[in-house]
Amino acid sequence: MKKIALLLALLLVLFRSYADEGMWLPMLLGQQVYNDMVKKGLKLTKDQLYAINKPSIKDAIVIFGNGCTGEIVSGQGLIFTNHHCGYDAVASLSTVEHNYLHDGFYAHNFQEELPGQGLSVRFLDSVVDVTASVEAQLQGLSAADRAAKQTQVLADIAARYSNPAIHVEAMVSPLFKGNQFIVFIYTRYTDIRLVGIPPESVGKFGGDTDNWEWPRHTGDFSVWRVYATHDGKPNDYDPSNIPLKPRYSLPVSLKGVKEGDYAMIFGYPGSTNRYETSFGVKYETDIFDPSIVSLRDARLRLMMDRMKTDPAVRLKLASSYASIANYWKFFDGERKQLLKYDVYGQKKTFEDQFSAWAASKPAYASLFKDYARAYAAWTPYAKGRVYLNEGILGSTLMQFCASLIQVEIAMVTPGKEAVARQALAAADKARAAFLKDEDMPSDMKILAAMLQMYYTDIPHDQQPVGFFEGLKQYGDLKTASTYQTYVSSVFSNTFVLNDTKWKAFVANPDATVLQGDPAYAAAASFIRSYTQRYAPLYTQFNASINDLGRVYLKGVMEQNPGKPMYPDATFTMRVTYGNVKSYNPRDAVHYDYACTMKGVLEKYVPGDYEFDLPPKFLDLARAHDYGVYKDLAKNDMVVTFITTDDITGGNSGSPVLNAQGELIGLAFDGNYEALSHKIAFDPVYNRTICVDIRYVLWCIDKLGGAPNIVSELNIKKV
Ligand code: ARG
Repeated sequence: MKKIALLLALLLVLFRSYADEGMWLPMLLGQQVYNDMVKKGLKLTKDQLYAINKPSIKDAIVIFGNGCTGEIVSGQGLIFTNHHCGYDAVASLSTVEHNYLHDGFYAHNFQEELPGQGLSVRFLDSVVDVTASVEAQLQGLSAADRAAKQTQVLADIAARYSNPAIHVEAMVSPLFKGNQFIVFIYTRYTDIRLVGIPPESVGKFGGDTDNWEWPRHTGDFSVWRVYATHDGKPNDYDPSNIPLKPRYSLPVSLKGVKEGDYAMIFGYPGSTNRYETSFGVKYETDIFDPSIVSLRDARLRLMMDRMKTDPAVRLKLASSYASIANYWKFFDGERKQLLKYDVYGQKKTFEDQFSAWAASKPAYASLFKDYARAYAAWTPYAKGRVYLNEGILGSTLMQFCASLIQVEIAMVTPGKEAVARQALAAADKARAAFLKDEDMPSDMKILAAMLQMYYTDIPHDQQPVGFFEGLKQYGDLKTASTYQTYVSSVFSNTFVLNDTKWKAFVANPDATVLQGDPAYAAAASFIRSYTQRYAPLYTQFNASINDLGRVYLKGVMEQNPGKPMYPDATFTMRVTYGNVKSYNPRDAVHYDYACTMKGVLEKYVPGDYEFDLPPKFLDLARAHDYGVYKDLAKNDMVVTFITTDDITGGNSGSPVLNAQGELIGLAFDGNYEALSHKIAFDPVYNRTICVDIRYVLWCIDKLGGAPNIVSELNIKKV
């Protein structure tokens, strides 16, 4: 036993040279890991990374949209982020005739830039630790009370630090599973314009086949600009706005990367759960992941059948298809890697060690027994919840109808007439948005397939009472055509899809019309069954798990005094540092640290859905016309490279910086071999996939013919 422990300790020391686990809080770098960063190669001072009273790298990092990172790269508010981060906004700007998503787009001056609807960026202004004040208000509460009270307390604090009049928005983030609370204060800018994007064939080269995988040849970037008033204040789109003069913008390096180079990433990782328990791992591998994967599998197939036949449908469904497909593949890979590396066993060992340490500490005595009880109480119903959210509500018609429940409740509650009117006006708007993206032929097939899967896979005593009984009039419940016949009757009879009837309803609201509608009735019966019978159990489960997680992590910190620890990702700004590094994915296979244009051409398949390329691209690439962007060591264009940095979804678009703090690439993905990374960072296999900045500039300058954009940058050649 002792020998094994020694071996483990030795392995950990050895792995230290590979592993670059850690999503560090930027304001704590100086105290926690700065010295290690320098040891790894960093050439900047603490203040250049993060400072409060003078410009630092942190001032160039923004939240882009609602789930990505972007960075400021010029004194005129120019922003780089990923292609897939701007995807939805560019799809919305596109029509079949002017298809910027398909063809690409470059503005050659400010006037040609296109306002992106609904886009915003947020700059981080300051952070305040409010742990003491939150703790004082939550002390001594039970798990359930604590959960409810915490929501209120955090909302109050956020409101106190926010100032809507000047677009200042504060958010309190519970860190270390609620052992620390920090307010992040942002300024939000809402006039964001499209400056450039490569054709989809380049920006999404390799599509879903290559997604989450290395080697990779995707030009995953897009270019935007943030506008403000003449005195630099946020303002909604207005022709009189001017490009924002940022506090700091990143210099861009043409020096390139080689194996072993220092590389760090600033950005907004969305969520991780590195202290997930063995119970949670089992829940992921046995219930959550496989359920989502099989439901999405069916939905994606039915969407793709339609997208392939019609460019208009392809454009309409492109963005939602991409996001469903992205996490379909993620959850499938996550499950495979969790099982392959026996993460369940790893967690169990960790828990056993913790229990041994905690044996004499009453605060932790019942921890894992309580975990077991909480999971046992909820697990039997967990699959039904996934089948509701990812299955039934995977139909866009059902999803819209589910939102009408609020309207019905307000309509039938005496004295709520004003609320009902408001809810109805909101529903009217939401309906327009829903119809814009609705493709009925695929939605009908999806709903029929989801109903059949629900009927087949969910225990019958958990199904909405009477719903499937009622379907028997359409045929045998074992036959697909039964569901199809029912669904076509729903789609042809619902007033939700009929403009005349819907307008009449909005003009003359009548709850019985809503209640009698077949689409609404179907959605409502699933939602009501869940909210009445299972939602309370789920709330209780969540409250217990969160509270146990807080206690567990408090214990782990107590068990490891003085050890620098980083909090799980919470879509707050973090820094990760590591090196450019090749790896061996499996026996006898070596993956280089970079991919080149040679590989792009090798993957090229004319006319293919995922591997096609524009004629101009082929001409330039075949002529090796790379100019200053060529990598001399590889004697080719380097398109992408990998590093050991620790990132996750939300980091998309993050700047990858060299030891001098210059931009060398944009992070855009993780590798397949480490898809268990949300729950367990793998020190050997984990890699971050980055698009090389020299490829980005080549795409803009040579392929896109927009040298005006490149000339705005602060380029470092030596
Ligand atoms: N896996 C990437 C991420 O989560 C997104 C890539 C988008 N591409 C795609 N083929 N769906 O950041």
